[in-house]
Amino acid sequence: MGRSGPRRRNARRSGRSRRWLHPFLDCRTGARDGREAFRGRGRAGAGGHRHRGTGRSALGAVARRSAFPASLPGAEAPRGGLVEEAAAGGRTPRIPRGHGMSALEKLGLAALHRIDPETGHGLALKALKAGLGPKGSPVTSARLATRVAGLDLPNPVGLAAGFDKNAVALDALAQTGFGFVEVGAATPRPQEGNPRPRLWRLTQDRAAINRFGFNNEGMETIAGRLARRPAGIIGLNLGANKDSEDRAADFAAVLTRCAAHLDFATVNVSSPNTEKLRDLQGRAALSALLAGVMAANAALPRPLPVFLKIAPDLSEAEIEDVARVAEEARVSAIVATNTTLSRDGLTDSSVTTMGGLSGQPLFERSTRVLARLSSLTDLPLIGVGGVGSAEQAYAKIRAGASAVQLYTALVYGGVSLAGEIARGLNALLARDGFANVADVVGTGRSDWL
Ligand SMILES: Cc1cc2nc3c(=O)[nH]c(=O)nc-3n(C[C@H](O)[C@H](O)[C@H](O)COP(=O)(O)O)c2cc1C
Repeated sequence: MGRSGPRRRNARRSGRSRRWLHPFLDCRTGARDGREAFRGRGRAGAGGHRHRGTGRSALGAVARRSAFPASLPGAEAPRGGLVEEAAAGGRTPRIPRGHGMSALEKLGLAALHRIDPETGHGLALKALKAGLGPKGSPVTSARLATRVAGLDLPNPVGLAAGFDKNAVALDALAQTGFGFVEVGAATPRPQEGNPRPRLWRLTQDRAAINRFGFNNEGMETIAGRLARRPAGIIGLNLGANKDSEDRAADFAAVLTRCAAHLDFATVNVSSPNTEKLRDLQGRAALSALLAGVMAANAALPRPLPVFLKIAPDLSEAEIEDVARVAEEARVSAIVATNTTLSRDGLTDSSVTTMGGLSGQPLFERSTRVLARLSSLTDLPLIGVGGVGSAEQAYAKIRAGASAVQLYTALVYGGVSLAGEIARGLNALLARDGFANVADVVGTGRSDWL
């Protein structure tokens, strides 16, 4: 079932005012944490080019671990989308400022810190689904609206994969202010993922470690939910079953099953939590995998922009290979990056838990990979890893990203952070005299090389 072009929603300034927190639960590492468990619509044509600016570990036990997002309705909500004042009248759009945490939020945060991380995240999704989240629409303005890989984004701030693995809260997520949303990863068959516990919060580092291992309800269930999706730009992260005999075929199968309800799809060969998955990033394996996925895509009534998501732990030579193979395969964009196995940047040296690290400590590493890629290819890039503020989103874009995504920062700042970052980005672009976000892409790349 196809959809017509993405609908840019105009701002609704009214609506319920809420702000959401996504605190993890602080809890000490249990004896089990150590080293176990690591067993291991189409709107646009696929393709498109990035706008370039013209201006210029260790693995181990955590002192503090926490539950994933439990959510809390509180004070201010993302305030709908910015009206296109600038576009309509040549004036600068009004950017409502974010508000600090309310007393209610702080109370809720403290309460939620007593919930197991994964349980907390499940509750957060349930609450969102129940309609307790922000009620707005994507933040947009003449500066923020941008075309990436053929997709018209109201703003370049997206939700990263893994937050809503099973597409249960799409209606709510479409109202949080994000310019685009990626759900999944979905695999052909449902699977449990790794044993619990498998999610930790590293509070003092504003980070998280997860080793979920593609737990999801499978492509049939997820396709059913996607079929009832709301408007907006929605993509699906494609995964492979752990016990699959042909993982490359799994990616193509999920794409084929779900494509009719999607605007884009992302081939995820970069999760560190499925044994040997990252081996698919090697030149020969990646080339064969992408050939299969792109053939499946070409056979669709409406081919999608297909993105490739890579790890932040690749060597220089591997990054070059990925760029070449992605270009040869004619993917539409590269998403850089997934979580890292490195523990660089963590202030808590007692961390020994295995899994993928995300959040603030990942920012520099993932941005360096992004900038390197940006110097190697004209493919559009999506910058992910440690984005928690408008300044960081701006830095990723200046390093070469046409759009950004975030996940872990939502745990600390709530889903209303999406709108705050988009509005803050608009203000930074205005401050620096840029008429559109595309004009700034790559202008600060050399700072990261
Ligand atoms: C709990 C959790 C689950 C994730 N699941 C997926 C996933 O299924 N597929 C994927 O491509 N990335 C997944 N990611 C990675 C994120 O999409 C993102 O690339 C990474 O967390 C870095 O961004 P951040 O620092 O803003 O969190 C997951 C991240 C976390 C924290």
